[in-house]
Amino acid sequence: MTKLRTEVGALTLEKPGMVASGIMDETGPSMERMLRNGAGAVVSKSVGTEPKEGHSNPCFTEVEGGLVNAMGLPNPGIDAFAEEMENATRCGKIVGSIYGAGPDEFSALAGRMEDYGACAVELNLSCPHAKGYGMEVGTDPAMVKAIVGAVKSAVSIPVWAKLTPNTHILADIGRAVQDAGGDAVVAINTLKAMVISPEFARPVLSNRFGGLSGSAVKPVGVRAVYDLRTVLDIPIVGVGGIRCWRDAAEYIMAGACAFQVGSAVLTEGVDVFEKINRGLERFMDDYGYRSIKEMEGAAHE
Ligand code: FUM
Repeated sequence: MTKLRTEVGALTLEKPGMVASGIMDETGPSMERMLRNGAGAVVSKSVGTEPKEGHSNPCFTEVEGGLVNAMGLPNPGIDAFAEEMENATRCGKIVGSIYGAGPDEFSALAGRMEDYGACAVELNLSCPHAKGYGMEVGTDPAMVKAIVGAVKSAVSIPVWAKLTPNTHILADIGRAVQDAGGDAVVAINTLKAMVISPEFARPVLSNRFGGLSGSAVKPVGVRAVYDLRTVLDIPIVGVGGIRCWRDAAEYIMAGACAFQVGSAVLTEGVDVFEKINRGLERFMDDYGYRSIKEMEGAAHE
């Protein structure tokens, strides 16, 4: 699979597809399972300082072209996550996803993830429905710069920032990450969304709002990566609605050097990475691409 090898800055991945944060990544065994099924790395569920229960049910519903979820960042807290990381990092590369309210909290969490053996840390600056976290801190470029700068000073592993599409200043936020020394941006997290049950005259999700993922968001993600590519020099990881090799190729040609798959692990099955890897290799052979690097940003030329 050397043709599929890619670099996200200093981090080499043997395969360009990673499991996106939030799917099959809450425990050591689930992360190991995805590594054994063709993922180049797994991004952990976002972990915070304290244990968090998350929202009550329903926190997840299916819509045409995707899923809307508001899990509420459920996680066991950074202390308890040590054991999951210890098991999973023995099998492959784990990117530790973390959420916090500001620079100090993010820095402390990132340091712990580094201690646990994470190959990089992904800052969740983009959850669309978490009070005081996610996009509430990730849509202010000054705050983004402060958080990324603080985390960069605290760890020596690569620092990635996962960005929200729920903004008209995506380019400014990307620049804030780059100016603070961030190693990569990850685009995109889910789109803020709502589903209403006419019969009950109520929003379906207990949290009322959630985030839309799945194939419906793919064109939004591809556009975001394309736009970021025009303003940034740091690597971009594409995510949003990838189900097959064609979707992955779109993101790469928009400017991504690697990609993440989330909802499709549920809708297509755990062998989705094997299928994408095979399809991408065949496409690269047929169209004369010798590496992911050669495909990266091809749609801009
Ligand atoms: O609800 C959740 O846990 C979602 C997190 C995210 O979108 O980042």
